[in-house]
Amino acid sequence: MFRKILLGAAASVALSAGASFAAGKSGHVEDFDFAHEGPFGTYDQMQLQRGLQVFTEVCSACHGLRYVPLRTLADEGGPGLPEDQVRAYAGQFEIFDAEIDDFRPRAPTDHFPGSSLENAPDLSLMAKARAGFSGPYGLGINQLLNGIGGPEYIASVLTGYTGEEKEEAGSIFYENKAFPGGWIAMAQPLYEDSVTYADGTPATVEQMSQDVAAFLMWAAEPKLNARKEAGFTAVLFLGVLAVLLYLTNKRLWAGIKGRREA
Ligand code: HEC
Repeated sequence: MFRKILLGAAASVALSAGASFAAGKSGHVEDFDFAHEGPFGTYDQMQLQRGLQVFTEVCSACHGLRYVPLRTLADEGGPGLPEDQVRAYAGQFEIFDAEIDDFRPRAPTDHFPGSSLENAPDLSLMAKARAGFSGPYGLGINQLLNGIGGPEYIASVLTGYTGEEKEEAGSIFYENKAFPGGWIAMAQPLYEDSVTYADGTPATVEQMSQDVAAFLMWAAEPKLNARKEAGFTAVLFLGVLAVLLYLTNKRLWAGIKGRREA
């Protein structure tokens, strides 16, 4: 809604924005529609659960989420798993406990493990650390219209493989349309039916990519739903307050304003 109003006003600017963005050396980021977008958007709980599944079954082989406490999987506004499932989920990862000087299964109070592959970055804050949209000329108009685009960037990287690869200095790089520079050291992680969704959603590469991107957005910003709710309540409250103040003001001045000069 907000976007549409702006779109009219900034249409001409946005046109040139698109052109200069495409010409830049950053990769191409697709503008996916996520449930959490817009002033009233909230996370889609089923999508977060699917994203958790993709992360667990595929990404966690290399990547960690070391800043994310496992207990938050039960949070409202997040994947919303029941407590016993969170406990079972946490228990599959081990952690070294200095107190007992041994390994033990993780508890919900522990965090997700860190990355297990040295050059695979931790993904806890990745959705906020990457901007999918920018420009033109540092004005950020594209971001105003399309959002920062962190999850779009992640989904674009996961769907952006061309199939080309090259070897350089002993490492293999894979061509990717979204990754800046065009060559990424991560092999394509998702293929059709890499996971089997319990809710029957077809596991296409695009579906899984968007699900895990939404999940990573939640990991980076777990309080988005609550934040928007609080913001909405505040705006509503200020609106009511404005009306009351207007009426009070009118009443206070009524005696003076209504007076006629003789
Ligand atoms: C086999 C190991 C492996 C798996 C599995 C894997 N990744 Fe990666 N990932 C890497 C490596 C290595 C890099 C660093 C690539 C680079 O910097 O060129 C990386 C980088 C990334 C980046 C950062 C790109 C950037 O802008 O720096 C994201 C986002 C990412 N991976 C997401 C995922 C997601 C989501 C999954 C699961 C669907 C996944 N990865 C699965 C190894 C892996």
